[in-house]
Amino acid sequence: MVDFDTILENAKNFAENIFASDSSGHDLAHTLRVCRMAERIALQEGANVPLVKLAALLHDVDDHKLSPDTADTKSRAAAFLQSQGMDVETAKTVLRIIGQVSFSRNTLPPDTLEGNCVQDADRLDAMGAIGIARTFAYGGAHGRPIYAPGDDRCSIAHFHEKLLLLKDRMNTATGKALALERDRFLRTYLETFLSEWNDEG
Ligand code: NI
Repeated sequence: MVDFDTILENAKNFAENIFASDSSGHDLAHTLRVCRMAERIALQEGANVPLVKLAALLHDVDDHKLSPDTADTKSRAAAFLQSQGMDVETAKTVLRIIGQVSFSRNTLPPDTLEGNCVQDADRLDAMGAIGIARTFAYGGAHGRPIYAPGDDRCSIAHFHEKLLLLKDRMNTATGKALALERDRFLRTYLETFLSEWNDEG
């Protein structure tokens, strides 16, 4: 097997290639932020840091919005791990973590501490100032209006469908603490947006 630091470096390059052409908010910068945040949470929570970083780097390469054909099999991530000569058990664990991260597909929390760290990091990146930027970038890329009262496709509706729910869905104590601040910012932003929209701001 290639040593773990080299695998992490290779995983970064692998993700970079896959996300090179994406402008929907699922770009390489998202993956790198999730990796850094997951590492920070993992250190606090006493999780296996290299495993967390690897899963974070690969968590979106088979995302169902980006790669519907491989979303269920996670075959891009699996092929990468195999190409690194990683042992089957560790590769399985990484794939399991990745499979448990997605917001829309999973209602149950991941069953590993490492999965909890990566999922919290991914969710934190959907909150706060960055979460807001990503929501409008995604909406724009999919032709959705910024705001249209009553239209649940609009970007503002996404705050209610997902972003404002995340604070109560964090897994780790570290994630919960970080989510509080980001949630406060989301709510302040939304309030200001609506007051400007309604000519009250
Ligand atoms: Ni993600």
